[in-house]
Order: sequence, then C-alpha cells, then structure tokens
Amino acid sequence: MTGSTVNILDLWPTKLVKKMLPDYNDPNRELLKLARNWDKTKKDLTTDYKHNNPFEIDEPATNWLRENVNQVMIEYLRAIGIDFSVDWQIHGWINVNRSGDYHDPHNHPHCYLSGTYYVKVPLPVKSNLSRRDVRPNHITFYDPRTGFNMQSISGDPYIDPEHSVMPEPGLLMLWPAGLMHFVHPNLSNETRVSISFNIILKWEDHYLPSQN
Ligand SMILES: [Fe+2]
Repeated sequence: MTGSTVNILDLWPTKLVKKMLPDYNDPNRELLKLARNWDKTKKDLTTDYKHNNPFEIDEPATNWLRENVNQVMIEYLRAIGIDFSVDWQIHGWINVNRSGDYHDPHNHPHCYLSGTYYVKVPLPVKSNLSRRDVRPNHITFYDPRTGFNMQSISGDPYIDPEHSVMPEPGLLMLWPAGLMHFVHPNLSNETRVSISFNIILKWEDHYLPSQN
C-alpha cells in the first residue's frame, strides 16, 4: 500500500509587521517636538491626512524614520516572496490624540500598505476601567474575511476575528491597506502621538501578474 500525501495550503494569509526600532529615544524626542510645533500651528493636523507629510522633512529624526519604514517595506516584500524591483512613496501624517480621542473602524483606500509608528503612548491605566474588555490606546485589526469565525472551535486559527496590540514608543507596524482597524479611545489625560503613513506604489507594468 502506498502512502498518500496530504496538501494543506495556507491560503489568503494576512501579513502584519511589528518591529521595535532600535535607538528610538533621540529620534522620538525630535519627532515629539515636531508634532507639538505642528499641532500649535496647523489646523486639523490629525484628521487632515492629505497635507503635512513629515516624511518630506529633511531632518535627522524624520530621515531616520523614513529609512526604517523603507527597510521594513523591503523586509515585507521579501517575506511575501516579491523578488522584482518595486518603487514606492510614503505619505504620512501626524496624529495627536487627546483624552477621549479615537479613530473608528476604517481602512485606507487607494494605497498598497499602511502603517503607524508610535512616538508617545500614555501608560496603561487599569484602575479606573469599568470593564475588562476596555482597551484604551490599543489598536485592533479585524479579520478581512467576514464571518470566518462563525463556526470556529477552540484551537483553530479562525476563532478570533480581532487582533489587538497595545503599542509602545518605538513600535513600527505595517499592514495591507485594506485591513480594517480601530484605534481605541485615549482615556488618559496624556496625549498619544503617532505617525501614520500609506505606502503608495509608483506604477510599473511588471507589477501585473502573468496570465495563465
Ligand atoms: Fe488607519
């Protein structure tokens, strides 16, 4: 009797990159200054994502962040098996979230990847929470395959349709731009400061997949 081979494919995975950047203290101090200055002078800094791109600033801290985002992008492309040249631009904006601020579930249309770098995050406050499932300052990502948890049982990979992260300063995250995510309310009196960005591909014809 000959043995049979079982192929179990890992179809339609969702890639989510988390990377703690080394030596982030000095750049974060400068990025926080930039955020504070822009917050004083620019109207709708957090909600106007079309203007005020910190990645266009030629300063040591913004150059450091740009280089790290580019490096993570290279690591992402390598991880998903893309072995041809890809060119992109980074469109970013600064978020300054005060007590009560949140960002309801959304994705980022017309972009390839999206991400956030964390500059300042209030320390977790547990004592004044009324419920255990309240997760201030977390970011939650949702399974893009709606309903895949409906009949999941304990231990299978589809049981949890959410993935929550409590960010900390120095954390850089990157994910497919279509992935829905929710930024939980800031319940602290301290501000949360982050830099979000979209990776937009500069089109090349060789991005098109070959047709079978
Ligand atoms: Fe977002």
